[in-house]
Amino acid sequence: MAQVNSDALVFYGATGDLAFKKIFPALFLMVKRGQLQAPIIGVARGDYDLEKLQLRAKESIQRYGQFEEETFAKFLQLLAFVGGDYTDPHTFQRIREALGSAQNPTHYLAIPPVLFPSIIEQLEQSGCAKGARIIVEKPFGADYNSAKALNKLLLCKFSESAVYRIDHYLGKRPVNNLVFFRFVNSLLEPVWNRKHIESMQITMAEDFGIQGRGAFYDVTGAIRDVIQNHLFQILCNLTMEPPQSLDSEAIRDEKVRVLKAIAPLRAQDVVRGQYTGYLQEKAVRENSKTETFAAMRLHINSPRWEGVPFYIRAGKYLPITCTEILVRFKHHPSAYTSIASKPNHIRFRISPDVTVAFGMLIMAPEEDMASVLSEVQGNPTPFSNEKDAYERVLTDAMEGDPTHFARQDYVEEAWKLVDEYLHSDSPVFDYAPGTWGPDSVDELICPQGGWNNPTLLKKHL
Ligand code: BG6
Repeated sequence: MAQVNSDALVFYGATGDLAFKKIFPALFLMVKRGQLQAPIIGVARGDYDLEKLQLRAKESIQRYGQFEEETFAKFLQLLAFVGGDYTDPHTFQRIREALGSAQNPTHYLAIPPVLFPSIIEQLEQSGCAKGARIIVEKPFGADYNSAKALNKLLLCKFSESAVYRIDHYLGKRPVNNLVFFRFVNSLLEPVWNRKHIESMQITMAEDFGIQGRGAFYDVTGAIRDVIQNHLFQILCNLTMEPPQSLDSEAIRDEKVRVLKAIAPLRAQDVVRGQYTGYLQEKAVRENSKTETFAAMRLHINSPRWEGVPFYIRAGKYLPITCTEILVRFKHHPSAYTSIASKPNHIRFRISPDVTVAFGMLIMAPEEDMASVLSEVQGNPTPFSNEKDAYERVLTDAMEGDPTHFARQDYVEEAWKLVDEYLHSDSPVFDYAPGTWGPDSVDELICPQGGWNNPTLLKKHL
């Protein structure tokens, strides 16, 4: 369905951390590219005013964006401010006035979900919801029931096609490239299945801790923070069936099908860890058992993937910051079996650099009957004008393209997979910062051939 461009952006939480680190720099770039010419109305509580917001925007773009005066002058012409309490009807009357003649505003809730009910109610009461879209930030609920309740709340006042649930990993080009790469390269489809693939693993490693976000992180943990959303999206991109068309719903249907074919997580398929020192972080509860690391094994019960294990691992304070996928192929028995020292693989690096590499065996130097693994790498030339993830998803939302957003059924299915496990009392093991998680991972959840521990400047596995 053709969508109209939104004619105003109202963002709630304009003085918050997310606005400072991500939203202002993204909006600035949208203005620079000419993709945002509509009014931008920042809304916040407290004693802010337009002048203070302008200064904060400037500091944010200078620190995290690509500041330059000419675009900033244009940006300031678009920026307006409305201050007030999110439960006060007067705040929303002022927003309605600030919207002027705008018919299709987008309301972006960059605020904690506890505030959603009153805002949604007020949007409706004030007439601001008419013709509008709504963008909500992750985390989308904390479990299956809360996500369902949140969906119900949103869908009382907005249609599903007007709701944009952000998962910024869907704004990352290398994440979208996974689907693209699979379906444009005809040599992959014949081998992209249980007959040829031995396992897949996805690692999201971060070499830093919770960065002062104890209050949020301690009630969240690694599974809710990055696995249930970012890494499940990657898993779907790697495993979905080809969509019938490039239509957003055809693509999102296939992703939901993948999730529905996965059996819910069982305790024996997960290892959780917590880095030593976590309990001393600010705002972390005494004796907290929140995981800062998790490794899990999943199975997709579909004709394509029956019997293939999928491993997912994410953690804070690991040895490096890198997100990487390793697809290992089966070895086909022949007279050369004993010479084939390692399985073939495809390695996708999502960040910090972008790589697609094929791991192939070649004859070892000076040794005719031995093999060594060598990678054929494709490293797309970095494009200096690349859109960052937030810029991409906000542009899409303003243009009305929902492809790179999580649909209602998707988020609910994703929660179903981890829900029972998250509500159980599972152990959490200590690990030393700078290691690849608790020792027990290698005993309990270990892919055949071992975990792929990414290193920077990697040439061979
Ligand atoms: C966020 C998580 O969603 O993603 C953070 O809340 C995590 O804990 C971040 O660090 C990682 O995003 P990126 O884009 O830096 O890989």
